[in-house]
Order: sequence, then C-alpha cells, then structure tokens
Amino acid sequence: MLAIDDKDFGTPASKSSKSVSLEIDGKPVSIPEGTSVMRAAAMAGVAIPKLCATDSMAAFGSCRLCLIEVEGRNGFPASCTTPVEAGIKVHTKSEKLDKLRRGVMELYMSDHPRDESACKADGNCELHRMARAVGLEQVRYNHGARTHLDLPVDDSNPYFAFDPTRCILCSRCVRACDDIQGTFALTIDGRGFNSLMSPGQHQHYLDSECVSCGACVQACPTDALMEKTILEKGPGTRAIVTTCGYCGVGCSFKAEVRGDEVVRMVPNKNGMPNHGHSCVKGRFAWGYATHPDRVRAPMIRERIEDPWREVSWDEAIAFAARRLKEVQAKYGRGSLGGITSSRCTNEEAYLVQKLVRAAFGNNNVDTCARVCHSPTGYGLKTAFGTPAGTNDFDSILETDVIFVIGANPTEGHPVFASILKRRVREGARLIVADPRQIELVQLPHVAADYFLQLTPGTNVALFNAMAHAIVTEGLANEAFIKERCDAREYTRWRDFIIEERNSPEAAEKVTGVPADNIRGAARLYAKGPNSAIFYGLGVTEHSQGSTAVLAMANLAMVTGNVGRAGVGVNPLRGQNNVQGSNDVGSFPHELTGYRHVSDPKLRAEFEAEWHVTLDAEPGLRIPNMFDAALDGSFKGLYCEGEDIAQSDPNSHHVAAALAAMEIVIVQDIFMNETAKYAHVFLPGSSFLEKNGTFTNAERRISMVRKVLQPLAGKEDWEVTCMLSNALGYPMNYRHPSEIMDEIARLTPTFTGVSYQKLDRIGSAQWPCNDAAPEGTKVMHVGEFVRGKGRILPTEYIPTEERTTFRYPLILTTGRILTQYNVGTQTRRTRNVAWHPEDTLEMHPHDAEQRGLRDGDWVEVTSRAGSIFLRAQLTERVQPGVVYTTFHHPETGANVVTTENSDWATNCPEYKVTAVEVMPTSRRPERIVREALNPKP
Ligand code: SF4
Ligand code: SF4
Ligand code: SF4
Ligand code: FES
Repeated sequence: MLAIDDKDFGTPASKSSKSVSLEIDGKPVSIPEGTSVMRAAAMAGVAIPKLCATDSMAAFGSCRLCLIEVEGRNGFPASCTTPVEAGIKVHTKSEKLDKLRRGVMELYMSDHPRDESACKADGNCELHRMARAVGLEQVRYNHGARTHLDLPVDDSNPYFAFDPTRCILCSRCVRACDDIQGTFALTIDGRGFNSLMSPGQHQHYLDSECVSCGACVQACPTDALMEKTILEKGPGTRAIVTTCGYCGVGCSFKAEVRGDEVVRMVPNKNGMPNHGHSCVKGRFAWGYATHPDRVRAPMIRERIEDPWREVSWDEAIAFAARRLKEVQAKYGRGSLGGITSSRCTNEEAYLVQKLVRAAFGNNNVDTCARVCHSPTGYGLKTAFGTPAGTNDFDSILETDVIFVIGANPTEGHPVFASILKRRVREGARLIVADPRQIELVQLPHVAADYFLQLTPGTNVALFNAMAHAIVTEGLANEAFIKERCDAREYTRWRDFIIEERNSPEAAEKVTGVPADNIRGAARLYAKGPNSAIFYGLGVTEHSQGSTAVLAMANLAMVTGNVGRAGVGVNPLRGQNNVQGSNDVGSFPHELTGYRHVSDPKLRAEFEAEWHVTLDAEPGLRIPNMFDAALDGSFKGLYCEGEDIAQSDPNSHHVAAALAAMEIVIVQDIFMNETAKYAHVFLPGSSFLEKNGTFTNAERRISMVRKVLQPLAGKEDWEVTCMLSNALGYPMNYRHPSEIMDEIARLTPTFTGVSYQKLDRIGSAQWPCNDAAPEGTKVMHVGEFVRGKGRILPTEYIPTEERTTFRYPLILTTGRILTQYNVGTQTRRTRNVAWHPEDTLEMHPHDAEQRGLRDGDWVEVTSRAGSIFLRAQLTERVQPGVVYTTFHHPETGANVVTTENSDWATNCPEYKVTAVEVMPTSRRPERIVREALNPKP
C-alpha cells in the first residue's frame, strides 16, 4: 500500500516557542503553547477520533466526535478546539466518551449509504474508519425518515465528482477552499435538514468560481468529493514522491500508481513549496504523459521535405552523429550548437551543455531562459552577486508589504498565489503594478492598496519614480546603505535619481500612473517594515528588462529590504526548471554556477574533469544562432525539449533559419513546430518517466522520480549520452545521481547536493555546501554575495517599438491558469474544458472606434506580421492596450512579436508590440498555419 508518511495531526502546529506540560491518558506531554489537545495527543501517539478536523486548516469544532474529558472540569470539550494548558490531565477514552462518540457517528451514518463495500474511497474513507474506531455496529435511526440519499451527483468538473449523498456537512471542503486556496467558491447552503454543500449559489462545480485546485477533494473525509480517475480505476497501490513538471513553484506530489498507470497526483503535505496544496495543472493535468500523440520511436529523414522514417535508436543516433560530423568537417567547429530546455531536469540540461562544449568543441549552447528570465540573471547577479531569487516562498508569511509587478500569480503561479492571498487576508498590504487589471487587484477578501496600471514598457520609469520619492522624502534606509552597499555608487545613483526627470510627476506622463499613486506606493513599500518584490516576465521581457531588474534591486537595497525573511527581490519563474537549467551552465558564456568561460583557472577544472580542451570564447546565443544560420555559418542544431519555432519571436525569421540548417535534431515528447524543420526526431521522456532534479524559483532542488517506464524506452539523459558517445566523446553515467555528483564536484554552490541528501531532507535550496549543509533559505544575510551591493543608475530609455498612426495600440501577453505555455501538454488533457481559444482583450473604447463588437474576429497586425483572434471587450485593459494569451498554436502570437530585445541579454521584447486591430472576415486558422509554415 501507499507507504509515504503523511499522518494527520488534526490541527496545525503552533509557532510558539514556549512549551506547556500536561498529561494525556496518563502520558506526560510537553508541547508548544497554543497547540490543540488533539494535536498534542496525536504527537504523543494517542489518536482521538475526528471528522471535521485536519491539520492543514484551523479547527472548526463542528462534528463533536473528538470529545475529551479534563480532570476536575465539567463537560466534554472538543479536543480540536481546546488548547493545551499547563498541568491539566486529559482523558481521551472512557465509557462515557465512547457512548457519546457512537451517538454522533450513528447520526452521521443514518443519512449515509450503509454498504461500506460501495464506498468509493475504498478503505480511505475517514467516516467508515471512524465508525469502526468508535465501535458503531448498527444504526437505529432512519427507518423511513427523510434522507439526502436521492440527491444527484455533480460530475460537471472534468476531474472530480461531488456526490451529495456521501456528504456529512463537515465543512472541510469549504474551509479548504477559503483558507488554503483562497477562492471562496463553496458554501454550506440552507439550514437544518436542508443544509447542503454547494459551489456558489446552487451552481454546478464547472459553472462556479471553482478553479479546480483540488483542495476540497483532498480535504473531504468521505467519498463525497472524489477524483474521477479513482472512481474509474480504483485507488493506487503504491506512491512515489516527485515534483510537478509545470511551473516554477515546483510543487511536490505523491504520484499514486496502480499497475503501470498513474491514477492520482496528490500534493505532498511534507513538500516545502506547496505544503500539500496544488493547482489544476499539477494535480490533474498529467494525462498528456500517456496521450496517443506521444512519439514512441526515433525517426529520421534525409531532407525536411521527405516523410519521416521510424528507425531503431542505434540507427537514429548513428545518422545524427554522422550528419553532425559532416557539417562540422565542412563548415568548421563553430557551425554546430545546442539548446537546452527549462522543461528538462538539471542533469539533462547539464549533459546537453557538456555535449556542446566537450563533443562539439564550442560554447554554442543556450537555453529557453534566454527568452524569459535572462535579465533576472544579469540584473540580480550585477546588483547582489547571485542570479537568483533572494528568499524562499514561505518567507512571504513574514512580509508586511507585497509588491507584485509584471506577474499574474493566480494564473501563472497559483500555489504561490494562494499563500500570497492568505498573507494579505492576514493583514499584509498589497501593491500591484501591471498594464492589465489582474485578479489580485480585486478578489474576495483581497484588494490591492495600490494598483499602478502602467503603460507597457515603462517599468523602469515607474521604479525610478518610486525611488525618487523614497530618497527625496527621506525614506531611504541610510544605515543599511552605509553598511551594505557601495558608497560611491550610491552617491552617484542618488544624484541621478533625485533629478526632476525621475520624479513621480514626470513619470506620470510616461507611465500613465497618477503621481500621487506612485508616491503612495513608494511610501508604503519603503515603510514596510518588511517589503518584498515578486515579479515575472512583465518585467524581464522588455528592451529594458535588465535595467528594470537592476531598478528593483535598487528599491530593495535603498529601503533595506534584502537579507532577511519577509523581504527581497523574487522572480516568479515560468517553467519548472528555469532556475536549474541556468544554474548548470546552459548559457553560452558561463559554466555551472554562473562562472565565465573565459576564466582559465575555471576552465582548467572542467578540462581536468571532462578530459577535453575547452574553448575560451563565449558561444552564440539563440538569436545569434538564427542569424548565423541565415548567414550560412551555423548549420546544425541539437534542440532538447524546446519548440523554438513556436516560442521564439518573429516566427518567420526562426523558420527561415531552421530551414537553412543541414542537420536539426529535435528531442521532445510530441511532434512540434520545430520538428517540421528537423532531420532527426528523438522521442523524449515526460517528467513521470525519468529520474533527476528540478530547481524551482526559490533555488530549491527537488527530486524528480521515475514513476513510469519511458514510453520510447530511454530517459532523455540516456539519449544525450548515446549521441555523445557516437560523436566520439564518452559519457558513461549509470544513473542521473552520478551526473549530479559531477555537478556538485564542479560547482561551489552545489558541493553539498547529492541524491542521498535530497532523499533524506526532501529538498535543498542552493547554496548547499559546507557553509550551509542543508541549503540556504535567505540569501545575502549580513553581506551580499558579491560583498557590497551595487546601486546603479537605471536610465529610462523608451523602447524603439513605438506606437504610430499605423500601429496605434500596444499588444502585451500573459497566461491563463488552466493552460500552460503553448498548450503542448495542457491541450492534451481534460483542461480543454477551459479556455478553448485565445482571445484578444480590448477596451470597449478602442473597439467602438473600430466598429468592433464582443466576439468579432479581428486581424492583429504588427510590423512583423498578422494574427487572427476573437475580440473580447473588457475594461481589464486600458484604452490603447490589447492583450492576449498564447496557449494555442493557431494564435501564432510570435508571428507578430518583433526582434527587439533586452540590451544586456537579448531577451525578446514580448511584452510590447505596436499593432493595429481591424475587423476581418477571413478564416483565421488556415492563414496562421500558413504563416507558421512558410515553404522552406
Ligand atoms: S477545487 Fe479548489 S477552488 Fe474548486 S471548490 Fe475545491 S478548493 Fe475551491
Ligand atoms: S463534501 Fe466532503 S468535505 Fe465537503 S462538507 Fe461534504 S463531507 Fe465534508
Ligand atoms: S503551482 Fe505550478 S508547480 Fe504547483 S501544481 Fe501548479 S503548475 Fe505545478
Ligand atoms: S474533529 Fe473536533 S469537532 Fe470535529
């Protein structure tokens, strides 16, 4: 059976450091003050029957099953709501208690299906377990009485069903939705006998506010709320702890397996980033792993016009190696390159960059972080010395002012959003800066104190104006600056920032945000006392992405908000392993741990380990690879887990570059746009089919464990090894743990990382080494990693992507909860029930000027191309700004994005594209497919 210990202690742990001693059933117990008697008993190995209590939520005290006796006191208090007291003597068992509990259970069972064998929880039903625990043998009531046993099942949700006949009205689901998820979608409706648990106002689940996080299903003690996979296939017989393969929150899950099938993913209550919570993607949308579209055999073809031919692994690898060698012999060492992916494990990304550096003999390796968070790496490394988030997610529980900019956590990072919302409900203040009114601005029980609805592309002006207000109003933390930052640089920056052109009044003209609001937000942030910044691609994917990261770092340093819990500058990473793929050397100028390849001493260490001579010159970045391909000097690409033809900007340009190459090797789990230009397709393995590690946005390295055998027979790291061996550079790892051992040997921030340790402690945040054997939650404590923090001038330079008479609107992009990136995975799951198409959000004022109505098809034209979408009129966007998601390939959002990019890192300026939107009557799908697939 499932062997992972996730004992439920009934109520949450107390945070008190003061201890209280008492006696429970004659056992002496010492426990933190504020702990419930129920939890104290559970900690002492005494199980008190319970139904409405669970340790992920505050006690509610409704079922009255957990009654106890306290010596010298009258009555039978509920142990879940009774806190421990010094010196009391508690009895949890007595004849009287047994009788009372049996009476309670008898009432519950009188309105519940009697036949335990029909219970779909199949042995996991707390109700039946409690009935047995209290010795209830028969039910005397309900002969002909009214019951709820004829109520219909609500199976509208694609993933779980609600059977009200099994509901005992314990409210656990309602509280889970309120307290854990923060959506407030459920209620106990009606009174007395007519009480019913209900989504919204007597709605079906699918029509309600529910976001399908699964917390209510997890909390339900009966089979009233059950996963459909369990109803259809039965419960798992074994469980394996692994890490979600979707976003950078990196939630930990128990994959429950029956036979050779996953039947359920249950959020791991001992998992650090998520503490037992989940979102619809990680919890439910894993069916793509066994979708019929999965490619199960290697394929090759001489020319991209030829049909694919299925071949053995050996033939495919030999073909790929031969073509790579031929290209290199003809065009030189620098004519090949590789692209690693943030979808893959650390070990896989490490091997791809090693293959490029050691087997190709150049540094032409890059990663998809190029197009998302490369400015984070540049900015945070420059300012603080480490290209990574400063704090752990839990640190937000000590934050007083939360500043969210360019991120939409409820859609993009839902589990983190739940923690954030909880913190706001507890009293933290909230500043949101975004061109679009994201959900966090106004939700039940959550409202932003300041919503700074800025014009896309003006983040730097906003940050500068906030810094101006802070400095000129005397709110800078001079003591912190003096102690922790470079004094000369600060003085220079101070002179720059107090200039009038950086004032909120000047910024109002650029950003569109009223100066008073900028000043108010700046004061709130500066006064904290604990203020933390959380940001996403709305900051990085700009021509000034790196400048904006530096400007945020300035705000944090100038106000002293770095180096302790509750503060910091924290990127919310889009993909599961953005942080990790960067850490392990995927950039063309850096070896593992962000160390420059030009350093001869460093190269010597790698050369000794790898037994090759390494090139000292940084290699090509992804956009440079495309340019070189069109110039004729870059002719071969190994691309693992990344659909560059779809995800990189200016799709026409990318397609032409790929078509110009002589050998393109794509390794992926599904056929994709890039594969249309490939000569070799190597079937990849999903996160369920391999061992390895992912590193989430808080630098947390977590185990990915093999749950299923790879559908095509190989884990991705094995395929890279085969290719390397065929090229003549030996790679002979027996297990990914050996790859991690090599990373640890070569990387000072990883020296303490090993699979054995991760198995033992669950996960570790780097730096993890002798100085921090179990990892580092908060960075830059006492001193910045680079020594003194750098406060650098951040001149606002408007993007060259200007609106004009011809392109008068700004297009910006974002995500939606139920879909993921270009939808390769989520569109192959039951998530298709939501978000059937991408739409173009447009302000009614702009629509009216163009004669558009809600739902009309429109043509969106930029300087780069045109796409077709259905218009959705909404005041979430401001006039002059239009917005779309990019989850469906038909949308082809990158057909319109330009080649503008961040000055420091080449991160594309996805978030600002000048466009015109006009009505169209043309059929959009065919046109976009043609645009994406020009004749090679
Ligand atoms: S699935 Fe999540 S959002 Fe939906 S009702 Fe349950 S707890 Fe609430
Ligand atoms: S659905 Fe489950 S959790 Fe919700 S009230 Fe009913 S029994 Fe309790
Ligand atoms: S929040 Fe991210 S990591 Fe967590 S379950 Fe959802 S998609 Fe997976
Ligand atoms: S478990 Fe204590 S009242 Fe329900």
